[in-house]
Formats: sequence, structure tokens, C-alpha cells
Amino acid sequence: MSITIFRTPTELVLGTGSVKQIGEKARVLGATNILIVTDNVLNQNGLVNKVIAPLKEANFTVDVIDEVIPEPPFENLEAMTEKIKGKRYDLFVGFGGGSVMDVTKVLATLMTNDVDVRNLVGIDKVAQKGIPFILIPTTSGTGSEVTWNAIFTDTKDNVKKGIVSPYLLPDVAIVDAELTLGVPPAITAATGMDALVHAVESFTALRANELTDGIALQAIKLITRSIRTAVYNGENLSAREDMAMGSLLAGISLGNAGVGAVHALAYPLGGKFKVPHGVANSLLLPYVMKYNVISNLEKFAEVAKVLGENVDGLSLREAADRAVYALNKMSRDVGIPASMKDLGVTEEDIPALAEEASKIDRLLNNNPRGLTKMDIEQIYRECFEGNLELDCFGHL
Ligand SMILES: [Fe+2]
Repeated sequence: MSITIFRTPTELVLGTGSVKQIGEKARVLGATNILIVTDNVLNQNGLVNKVIAPLKEANFTVDVIDEVIPEPPFENLEAMTEKIKGKRYDLFVGFGGGSVMDVTKVLATLMTNDVDVRNLVGIDKVAQKGIPFILIPTTSGTGSEVTWNAIFTDTKDNVKKGIVSPYLLPDVAIVDAELTLGVPPAITAATGMDALVHAVESFTALRANELTDGIALQAIKLITRSIRTAVYNGENLSAREDMAMGSLLAGISLGNAGVGAVHALAYPLGGKFKVPHGVANSLLLPYVMKYNVISNLEKFAEVAKVLGENVDGLSLREAADRAVYALNKMSRDVGIPASMKDLGVTEEDIPALAEEASKIDRLLNNNPRGLTKMDIEQIYRECFEGNLELDCFGHL
């Protein structure tokens, strides 16, 4: 194994009801004046009180900013930075989905780094740690609470851009499945499939290692066991617990092994067509994996098994193909659209999408099989038609 660095947040607080620990965690971090970062949906539906109440009870001064918008552009972050300028917060709490958590990470960073946020795009561009922050996910999917990435939309070219720095890891992540009970089916499906993509992509990525492999496989197992129940019976706490844990594990695996071409091809769909991140990933997953499968048959056969496929008596190649079949089936089962056509993309858009995706070397270089721009275009065309050909034995 080559030299590898494995990172997670300093502390993970897990389990149903764990959000009540927020006061104690804030005290240990030396906080007095706390800003809760969230979105207006969570503020208006009152879920944010799950974190405000225990903090107020413990006599902290608490302000709330609820202006995070989905797939946030840099301008969203800048407007919030302007608004809180001069206020002496000593702890941020990011309470929400991936967008809220990504904004919180960078907002905390900008408190101690006086730079244009665009100059932080790329790997290791953050000079110093920001103020302390705690992340609390309210969806199960992005894994942002355990990664050191934050993704923003650049409105100048409509491209998703990533800030990657170990300083974006939170001081504490609190993962409480109870907070996800009211998430609607479509969001449960999209975020849950995003988590599955994190697990499958990081398991088959070039930077995968023994440590991340075990974590990724456990994530696939938990998500496979419970995603359908979580989507169609959202009040089922044990399914929500599996999804919360699966998403967390997938996030740890993604943070350390990275992801690949599914994410690279999904980002242009998010930037140009505003397709939600999880939907774009889920839609592309079987098509990219169909392309990738030949590059590592052993690993894909293992994925098939963990996805619950019966691979007894199959050749390694056939077993590996079953993974593609099962991923496609799961995506259909939870109601993800079947083709790019269904998302308002036209055939004429494909060359520009491929051009955009082909530039995302950070992800493409970690994919188990190399891709030319032509390969990317071909995958988009297959996904545009949505006709993944699979017979009843799973042959492609
Ligand atoms: Fe993702």
C-alpha cells in the first residue's frame, strides 16, 4: 500500500437523539456566541429548534442565518459573509443538507482568511484554520459532515467548483437519524443515491485502499438494505438510521479515496441544467459503471454481492455485470428519472457537456478506467437515450 493519509473530523457524535449533545460540544469548544447556519425551509418548519433550544437552555447567545440556497453560488456565500462581518461569533453550527454544510465550512474559513473565496478553489489553497464549527446533517447523502470538500456554483461559467482543504473538516460532526424522518421521498431518493455513488465510486477508485474499502462496502450494505424503505416509508427510524450511517461511512470513504467519473459527468448537469446533484449522479451511475466494469472485475463482482445479487455459478465477468444491473434497478426503484432526456437536456447539448466534464481532472484521474472526451460523450449519449440494455441474466 502506498503512503496514505486518512482523515476524519476530530469527533463524531452518532445515534438517535445525539443532537441534544450540542450544548456540551459547544462548551468544550469554548463557545459563547454561536451562529447557526441553515436554510429558510428548516428555519420555517421549525426543525432548527432542535439545535437552538438546547443551546439557549445552556445559556449560549444564539443567532440564526437561514439564507443558504441549494447548489449555492459564490455570491450566496459572499452575501452571508457581508452580513455577519464584524460580529464576534466564536462557533458556527451548520444545520442542514450538503449545501448548508458546504457554506458553513467556507464561512468559518473566511472568518480568519481575508481572501476572495474564488482564490480558495482547488486543493490546499486555504492558508489557516477558520473559527471552530460543528456540522449536523438533516439529510442522508452528501457526507459533507465528514469530508474536506465544499462545492459551489460559479455563475460566470455555470461550472461547479470545489474548495478542498483539511481545514474544511468540522471540529465535531453530529449525526442524528431522527432529524431526517421528515425528508420527502424525492430528496431521500436523490441524497441516498448520492451516498451510494460515493461508496461505489470510492470503492472502485484508484486511490482506494484497505481502510476505505471496508468502510465503503459497509456503506453499500446499509444503503442497499434500507434505501427503498427510507424512500417509501420515511417514518421508519431503523431505515433512516441505516441511511444516516451509510451516508456517513460513504462520506468517510469518499473523503479519503475520492470519487471518479460519475461525479465528473454529473457536475456539468448540475451547473448548466440545475439537475440536483444526487439525481445527476444516480442517473449516470449505471452508465459510467458499465464503462468501468472491465477495469476491475473482482471489485465489481464484490459490489454485486453486497448489492444483494446472487452471483453463484456466474463467471467473474458476469458477476461484475450484475453490479451494473443492480445499481440501475435501485435507481429505478427509488424513482430517479430513467434518462437525460427526462431532465430537459437535448442531444445538441452533449458535446458541450462532454467538454466541461473532460476538464475535471481531479476526478477523472481517480477513475479506475481512463476516459477520453469521446468516451465521455459516448456515455452521455447512452444515458441520454436511457436504454441500458440488460437481459434477465444481467448481461450487458
Ligand atoms: Fe456526491
